[in-house]
Amino acid sequence: MQIDEETLKRLDRELQAINNRIGADRKTLDEVFDRSTLLTFGKLISDRIIEYVDFPICTGKEANIFRAITPQKKFVAVKVYRTSTSNFNRMIHYIQGDPRFPPISKNRREIIYQWVKKELANLEKLAEIGVPAPKPIKALNNILVMDYIGGVQKPAPLLKDVTMKNPDKFYNTIIKYIETMYIKGGFVHSDLSEYNILVHRNKPVLIDLAQGVVRDHPMAMEFLQRDIRNIVNFFRKHGVDDNEKKVFDRITSQG
Ligand SMILES: Nc1ncnc2c1ncn2[C@@H]1O[C@H](COP(=O)(O)OP(=O)(O)OP(=O)(O)O)[C@@H](O)[C@H]1O
Ligand SMILES: [Mg+2]
Repeated sequence: MQIDEETLKRLDRELQAINNRIGADRKTLDEVFDRSTLLTFGKLISDRIIEYVDFPICTGKEANIFRAITPQKKFVAVKVYRTSTSNFNRMIHYIQGDPRFPPISKNRREIIYQWVKKELANLEKLAEIGVPAPKPIKALNNILVMDYIGGVQKPAPLLKDVTMKNPDKFYNTIIKYIETMYIKGGFVHSDLSEYNILVHRNKPVLIDLAQGVVRDHPMAMEFLQRDIRNIVNFFRKHGVDDNEKKVFDRITSQG
């Protein structure tokens, strides 16, 4: 991989500028952008997947999300998994047992790279079966590039932060997504909640797909049950009355 010094220097300046805006100390920045991550960014730039990093959207438990601009001046979202703070045991739990992936290595970096590939494959699956989620663009090492969901000013809000005029409609749409994923895609999101659903143009959009497993995963039924429970419980607080077990039985009896 050939990244010229100039690109690297430019990247470091950009990241320093972001750092100044978010006020993170150098240690935090180094944790997110260790040298190998910086090189991966450099490769994405030299391959013209992105042109520059625009602003940080969010610092999650395991990843930092940025908005970036492509050479075609389109917004994209860039999810950078931190190699320093990721929860490897949790990752292994969701990769093992998924027949799409070979037996997992013990190498931390390899586990993260697998995790990113898994998120990409899952986003592709959702695109294929027509469940709204960001379209994946590229997975490279610990970085995933995907469609940006939101407006020019700011990213789309999370479901937990929006005031719904019509909670019933939202509820039915999300249950339909779960059903389509399971029946048509043979797939379970496995981390579904009001924290991993964006609301864009008055429609729910699913994010954070790395945990998703195929139906053959030994824990798939438990994950499906938990996804349904999270959604039913959240909407109950918004006056939608439904029964978790009924929904689960209805969905699983079809496939
Ligand atoms: N494609 C996207 N477009 C716009 N905003 C996004 C996109 N993907 C993620 N975000 C924002 O970044 C936040 C974090 O993303 P995500 O849930 O995928 O990772 P995470 O929260 O780090 O994972 P975890 O759930 O392990 O903490 C989201 O809550 C959302 O606000
Ligand atoms: Mg999340």
